[in-house]
Amino acid sequence: MKAYMNNNTRRHHDFRKDLEYLTPNAGAEMLRYGWRKPDILSLGQGEGCAATPDFIIDTASQAMQEGKTFYAPVLGYPSVRQDLSDYYRRIYDLNIEPNRLFLTGSGTTAMHLALTSILDAGDEILAVTPIWKNLLGAAEIARAKVNQVSLREENGNWKLDLNELFAAVTPETKAILIVTPSNPTGWMMKDHEIKAVLDFAREQNIWIIADEVYGRIVFDKAHAPSFLTHATADDKLYVVNSFSKAYAMTGWRLGWLVGPTFAEEVIRDIALYDNMGPASFIQLAGGTALREGEEFIAGQIDRWRKNKDILNEFFAAHPEFECAEIQATFYAFFRNKNKPDCMSYCRELIDEVSLSLAPGCAFGQSSEGYIRLCFACSEAKLLEALKRLEQVR
Ligand SMILES: Cc1ncc(COP(=O)(O)O)c(C=O)c1O
Repeated sequence: MKAYMNNNTRRHHDFRKDLEYLTPNAGAEMLRYGWRKPDILSLGQGEGCAATPDFIIDTASQAMQEGKTFYAPVLGYPSVRQDLSDYYRRIYDLNIEPNRLFLTGSGTTAMHLALTSILDAGDEILAVTPIWKNLLGAAEIARAKVNQVSLREENGNWKLDLNELFAAVTPETKAILIVTPSNPTGWMMKDHEIKAVLDFAREQNIWIIADEVYGRIVFDKAHAPSFLTHATADDKLYVVNSFSKAYAMTGWRLGWLVGPTFAEEVIRDIALYDNMGPASFIQLAGGTALREGEEFIAGQIDRWRKNKDILNEFFAAHPEFECAEIQATFYAFFRNKNKPDCMSYCRELIDEVSLSLAPGCAFGQSSEGYIRLCFACSEAKLLEALKRLEQVR
């Protein structure tokens, strides 16, 4: 992929030299291309249609009324860190002490903090792809070289070859980065695979950064398998998470990071020099979401399951489309056999039928030809999108 800025532009404006390695984001580019059209129907971005539920909004507004508008503790109010700890006990049956739970200004910020705490110049990150491009951007900004190991689509399922992953580790590899469940593929790592990767990382003395932002967006169980199940409080493991998807809070910017006990101080210091932690009243609203959000999550999953079924019926009825089984998340990552170039296919969909989807090449080296559709929308919107998709064959 071409560099973000050419050398002359960079030198001329005297930006940081490493920015030369920051690669462009084809997904963001396509979204901007679509937004030019007033009648655009966009399922290109990763968020639902539902507004944040009232019980969460009420906590934030009440907290503001009560004067919770000042600086809060950088890693989060102790009460909300306790809410997170209780959440892990209740939902995952895990004992994660509050001193390993750090509230952050988003899942993205959690990723930046994790990377910033471990990367030296010249370090490498080994990322399982396809992957949400912003995470690769975060590693690039932190000056890491990113190597990729690709999932493979086999017999209608995405698969990770663990031997290939382990063989790709080099002496410079500082961390393995895995998103499970995966944006964009909907692939979900199995429990025994998680254990094998954790054992390998221990042996090699490297970090794992697991993004479990979609850990609750699963269709047949309460949560996806988690790295935390097999880890001890001393393992070199970061788990990134967010309130954005499960609680319909994308615009609030609130997430969390789980780290080893020994990371608390370093993450606190980096967060202090970053944004000094998330907004006070937003943290408190997050606490309410954790305590009272289960019914809301269940309602969303029901709606998204119905949409997944509609999509599967659509793909089954249209043989030019191929989509592996969607195990989790609210994304369909599919191909149209007649349209191998995803950038021009996405542009064509925008130009011809005002439908904006995300091009596969935005998600890593091996997903050229794929398209991502976010189905966390109303049934009516999904049906309209599929009608438009049908018109460009
Ligand atoms: C895998 C993954 N991680 C993190 C995020 C970002 O979460 P947040 O909105 O909390 O920054 C996203 C958003 O799409 C995502 O797909």
